[in-house]
Amino acid sequence: MNLPPPPPPLGLLAELTHRCPLRCPYCSNPVELSRASAELDAETWGRVFREAAALGVLQLHLSGGEPAARRDLPEIVAHAARAGLYSNLITSGVLLDTARLKALAAAGLDHVQLSVQDAEEGSADRIGGLRGGHVRKLAFAEAVQAADLPLTLNAVVHRQNLDRLPALIDLALHLGAGRLEVAHVQYYGWALRNRDALLPSRAQLEAATETVTAAREALRGRLVIDYVVPDYYARRPKACMGGWGRSFIAVSPAGRALPCHAAESLPGFDFPNVRDASLAEIWAHSEAFQRYRGTSWMPEPCRACDHRERDWGGCRCQAFALTGDAANTDPACALSPHHHLLDLAVRDAAIAGADFTYREMPRIPSEA
Ligand code: SF4
Ligand code: FES
Repeated sequence: MNLPPPPPPLGLLAELTHRCPLRCPYCSNPVELSRASAELDAETWGRVFREAAALGVLQLHLSGGEPAARRDLPEIVAHAARAGLYSNLITSGVLLDTARLKALAAAGLDHVQLSVQDAEEGSADRIGGLRGGHVRKLAFAEAVQAADLPLTLNAVVHRQNLDRLPALIDLALHLGAGRLEVAHVQYYGWALRNRDALLPSRAQLEAATETVTAAREALRGRLVIDYVVPDYYARRPKACMGGWGRSFIAVSPAGRALPCHAAESLPGFDFPNVRDASLAEIWAHSEAFQRYRGTSWMPEPCRACDHRERDWGGCRCQAFALTGDAANTDPACALSPHHHLLDLAVRDAAIAGADFTYREMPRIPSEA
């Protein structure tokens, strides 16, 4: 199958490493992690960034794992700046002190996105599985402010912290963030194992939606708040990744090019590697990027649905996680024959406890 060439992607997610000092129970990295020895070197990332810029990519997200686990991060940032990409560092902040941040700013870093696990220290450290982590994040945020870099705060929310959303908004203001992403956990990969302990109740969700609505009004011009109703309470799915192979490329630490950061969890794919092919070739011609691109692959009820070019059938990873077939309509859609699975999950979570299983991550050796 060869579809007409797609418009260029807007964003590249460079997953520099899977190593991370945190152990969040909702980690979105694949269950099978890349080893440090398999990671692309800085020179190869530089070549990938130049190819991305030539392809039309504007924004580069440097992510992980924890990207600061790489000692050569300033070199990688410098490659991004030379390629003319706007670079956003997605970090937990716990491995970066003022000196390292200055080196990144000097290398041309444009933006920082800092994750927090909660607004309350004890809970934040428990959720992230790292004692002292929250205090280190706050110190890092101050360093970002001092370096005059724009800051987005990313708060992954779930049953165990959603009641502190007002405090998270206050924290974003206190840290000088211009944007707060209130991101509900996506339940595939590792997070699916912990769904019962993390899924919020409908009452929590309604309170959170009211909080966001009021805060957006009160803080207009000071803080932008991104917020999407989570799939388990939605009637229609989100256009995951803006549609498969439509606006986004992720590259794993070992160089596999993916239409979505979680796609390695899908069976039956042979994802191309940036060591063997250019991004342009991968984007236009690889079978993996074409498989769910557009609408021709869609089953009913998507095939005849008016929403098909708005949500592109939802999320392939969620369809696989919940139905065993990535080509099914996302069960988040109320028209999906599998939609009842989400109602059952909400019911099970309502009677479950708060215990979760931490993500076990590879150790960070001396290069951290
Ligand atoms: Fe979207 Fe498919 Fe549901 Fe229509 S049937 S709203 S295209 S997921
Ligand atoms: Fe993979 Fe949605 S997370 S397609």
